[in-house]
Amino acid sequence: MPADQSQQDPKVQVEAARKAFEQEFERFARFTGGAAPAATLSLEEAETEQRALEDLRTRHFGRKSTLAACKKLIGRVPADERPAFGQLVQQIESESVARLEQAAAALNAYVERARIDHERVDVTLPGRRPRQGHLHPITLLRERIEDIFVSMGYAIEDGREIETDFYNFDALNIPQNHPARDPRDTFYVAENMLLRTHTSPVQVRTMEKMQPPVRIICPGRVFRRDPLDPTHSPMFHQVEGLLVDEGITFGDLKGTLERFHKQFFGEKTKTRLRPSFFPFVEPGAEVDVSCVFCDQAGCRVCKGTGWVEVMGAGMVHPNLYGFVKYDPEKYSGFAFGGGIDRYAILKYNINDIQLFFQNDMRFLEQF
Ligand code: DAH
Repeated sequence: MPADQSQQDPKVQVEAARKAFEQEFERFARFTGGAAPAATLSLEEAETEQRALEDLRTRHFGRKSTLAACKKLIGRVPADERPAFGQLVQQIESESVARLEQAAAALNAYVERARIDHERVDVTLPGRRPRQGHLHPITLLRERIEDIFVSMGYAIEDGREIETDFYNFDALNIPQNHPARDPRDTFYVAENMLLRTHTSPVQVRTMEKMQPPVRIICPGRVFRRDPLDPTHSPMFHQVEGLLVDEGITFGDLKGTLERFHKQFFGEKTKTRLRPSFFPFVEPGAEVDVSCVFCDQAGCRVCKGTGWVEVMGAGMVHPNLYGFVKYDPEKYSGFAFGGGIDRYAILKYNINDIQLFFQNDMRFLEQF
């Protein structure tokens, strides 16, 4: 402490200490009225004020403060003035400290509450859910097709994606020189082993396994050496159907396909069978449905004809029964095979089969 100050009148000194405190404390006085004025501060600002107030406490009431120096003066003032001076110092200190304490209490209470608010977890907020996917449009349609046939009493069979050329061709009455057997059309994985080119091999595999009545469908992937373009893909999907029992006629085939198409596309849908040839059926037919886009007025999809081809079908060729030792005199049946991707294209009005295999979320999210 400077020499001249210690020589000053102690009363003046203590008053100066009070003034200095008052001046500095002024901006904290607003907190004394309760927490409300503090509430205009952010948590960070309130914490800064808190530190400033503690700093002020040390400077004005700490060991090295002016007030502490004044206390030391008590012993040096003349004996008759000592009690009064002592009281004055005491009073100034207790009043000032009380005011400071009040402001500090309000500020601390506010900071405490603000911290709790800041750290509070709102358990009522919705959680962050992992994004949920859904089934692929082809899977959705496959399941729809399965549902319709299951409701007609069919069972679902699993075929094999890798087949022998026996089941894929020979057992289906397809001759040795048939063009589909050409390695330029079919993916061979080994001698006599190939990626099935259609779901039809499941017909013979199923008849080998069970006796009539047989009533199955088999959906699955098939493979051909086709170029990638809007209507072709080297991998696509088919659904095969087979029904064998006593007394089954071509009328049953037509009725079954008609019912299926009405269920799938809507009751207005018509089904047409055109004579055609497939080695494993006799008679064979190509199956058309009335165009779902133009109500048969003629459009780009049906190429103006009002009909769209969706399947091959026919009465099971008696030669196939020979492979599986069914009595062709006793049993008859029908088979059909359609493209699931083709059904999907018609059902969803899509003009490019590639979209099903590119896994573009913008496309897939629409289903
Ligand atoms: N498997 C034939 C194809 O992929 C489609 C087919 C035609 C299936 C006639 C059949 C059928 O069951 O009877 O082109």
